[in-house]
Amino acid sequence: MKILGIESSCDETAAAVLEVKGGYFRVWSNVVSSSVKLQAKYGGIVPEVAARKQMEYIIPVIEKALVSISLKKIDYIAVTNGPGLISSLRVGFEAARTLSFVWQKPLIAVNHMEGHIYSALLNNFQFSIFNFQKVRLIKFPALALLVSGGHTQLVLLKDYLKYKIIGETLDDAVGEAFDKVAKMLDLGYPGGPIIAQRAKLGNPLAVDLPRSMLGSGDNNFSFSGLKTAVLYKVKDFGKDKLNDNWVNDICASFQQVAVEVLVRKTVKAAQDLKVKTILLGGGVSANSELRRQLTEEVKKNFKGIEILIPEIKLTGDNAVMIALAGYYKARAGKLSDWRKVKVDPNLRL
Ligand code: KG4
Ligand code: ZN
Repeated sequence: MKILGIESSCDETAAAVLEVKGGYFRVWSNVVSSSVKLQAKYGGIVPEVAARKQMEYIIPVIEKALVSISLKKIDYIAVTNGPGLISSLRVGFEAARTLSFVWQKPLIAVNHMEGHIYSALLNNFQFSIFNFQKVRLIKFPALALLVSGGHTQLVLLKDYLKYKIIGETLDDAVGEAFDKVAKMLDLGYPGGPIIAQRAKLGNPLAVDLPRSMLGSGDNNFSFSGLKTAVLYKVKDFGKDKLNDNWVNDICASFQQVAVEVLVRKTVKAAQDLKVKTILLGGGVSANSELRRQLTEEVKKNFKGIEILIPEIKLTGDNAVMIALAGYYKARAGKLSDWRKVKVDPNLRL
């Protein structure tokens, strides 16, 4: 089965062709264009700018994704229909709907977060351009920790496509907190990768910051208190007196607290629910401390439980993950009628 995936929920315009056959996958193409550098000038995402760039990129990106494979061979078109920025979503979605109508190919609407869940299954992704690679299997029940710029969720999976959100952030998403802290420190946008870099040079125990919701007794998160605590530390220190050492220390301390809360709550939920697999996904899953500490804690606390982490190239927004989610939906017969399906910026799993 060959699926053309299209993703345009935020500031990345992406198209990919994924083939899945007998438990193996091959990536025929994976194209991503991003307006992130332009957004950096504004210190964050400006939805109007993101949407304008989506419109500019969408056709060239789809065209490029189809260079390596003939259109006739495509079986399905999978597209993100939410959650995300409404005007950005519409661009990829309308393109996919139009292609579905003109080419007479069945359409599959995919939740962006569904894509992040399955991104960890595409192991040896870079070699799949040449050879088929095995799709990793999920042993159910499974728990997914989804961490991005817009979401922080713990999702229980009873089976493929059977999701239950068991916990989520009550305020800021963790990626948003990374971005806002970077802004406070004038480090630029997006904040996640910059903070992670600076954190490598700092002491994670240097600044005392609150670990919100750790003992809350539920699976929810809160990162706004942590962000505000950093703001007060910056004010106390004096914004005009900031120096590299102190900035490195606050970045390391902030990252450590954020990672610790994510890891401890995930491990606790996995214990309570007796899951067999833990999945990680979303832009923040590129964070090397999160990857390391989650793997270490899972190994320490569980015997035989599998932890699946996406390759760095698939942690950010891409269309391969949308195509893979589309594959599971096609396999289950969950197709969408292009006449009826809609985008939903607040779509839930
Ligand atoms: O999944 P994603 O690409 O877009 C959304 O769906 O939101 O996630 C983007 C988020 C941004 O907040 C960015 O700062 C964060 O992922 N991020 C990181 C790292 N790389 C990207 N956060 C922490 N550490 C990183 N290395
Ligand atoms: Zn995302």
